Amino acid sequence: MKQPPILVDGASGYVGNKSAVFPLQLLGYDVDPINSVQFSNHTGYPTFKGQVLDGQQLLDIINGLEANNLLCYTHLLTGYIRSKSFLNKVLQVVEKLRSINPGLIYVCDPVLGDEGKLYVPPELVSVYCQKVVPVASMLTPNQFEAEKLTGSRINSEKDGLKACNFLHDAGPSKVVITSLHLDDKLLLIGSHQKSKGLSPEQFKIVIPKIPLNFTGTGDLLTALLLGWSNKFPDDLDKASELAVSSLQAVLHRTVSDYRNAGFNPESTNSLEIRLIQSQEDIRNPHVNFTAEKY
Ligand code: ATP
Ligand code: PLP
Ligand code: MG
Ligand code: NA
Ligand code: MG
Repeated sequence: MKQPPILVDGASGYVGNKSAVFPLQLLGYDVDPINSVQFSNHTGYPTFKGQVLDGQQLLDIINGLEANNLLCYTHLLTGYIRSKSFLNKVLQVVEKLRSINPGLIYVCDPVLGDEGKLYVPPELVSVYCQKVVPVASMLTPNQFEAEKLTGSRINSEKDGLKACNFLHDAGPSKVVITSLHLDDKLLLIGSHQKSKGLSPEQFKIVIPKIPLNFTGTGDLLTALLLGWSNKFPDDLDKASELAVSSLQAVLHRTVSDYRNAGFNPESTNSLEIRLIQSQEDIRNPHVNFTAEKY
């Protein structure tokens, strides 16, 4: 009977599993989280302490689940992964999960970096390109990650759409470029290839930029996209509108809560998102953002 998603990511502070598990639970999912790291706080702070799970330790957990016939999952979500050996083990996990449930949906947030900088070892890029992207069902790169995975710069909406087409050809039927910074605009581009060989249905959502830095937003967005696109499997536009609307409500609440507490949100780049305080916006988002079809 147990058919929940399984998540592999994690740290304390609202990044990784801490920003992904609670929203999925609010949307009604049973979630089995595996923390790929156990840190004192997220890496946006000046220092951090803790342990990193290695690939063999991940496989131990998976083997334990398998030995008890518990390895029956509908979805696998992966986020921030920092070692090549761990990423290769994740590929074995995908294979194992699919041998049990061939319909398993693998939602991959290919976390590589942002704003022109890699924050994982460079050898991970080719593993994502050659092995991970081909087995992903849904991919949620940011602009920098989409550039790394396609080998082409994205300087326009047209480039973004081309990147989606390239990624569909490599594997996933759903691609969401979660943030595209063009001039002063922030865009999300979604692309759904409903059958292999068909041209994908593509759309954008324009998002007003808040002039602050948040952490955990990519993780939260990918979790919300998983949650809503499972409820609306043929409507990535709608799933994205719901996900973006929840996320923006969380961000606005975060800023106003910091201000109301007498704290200047401009004075830090480690704003902790106000997730627990935003339950209603996650369960029943007011759709304030609409997808525009291309
Ligand atoms: P990852 O690094 O996890 O792959 P990412 O770089 O796409 O993901 P973010 O840059 O955090 O993650 O963006 C994810 C979403 O968060 C965006 O689509 C946007 O909706 C929202 N977001 C993040 N920062 C801001 C901001 N300053 N103003 C408005 N929206 C924001
Ligand atoms: N996951 C972990 C464990 C992290 O430490 C970080 C960064 O601090 C992230 C994910 C990335 O978070 P974001 O969603 O802001 O990209
Ligand atoms: Mg980003
Ligand atoms: Na992303
Ligand atoms: Mg990010």
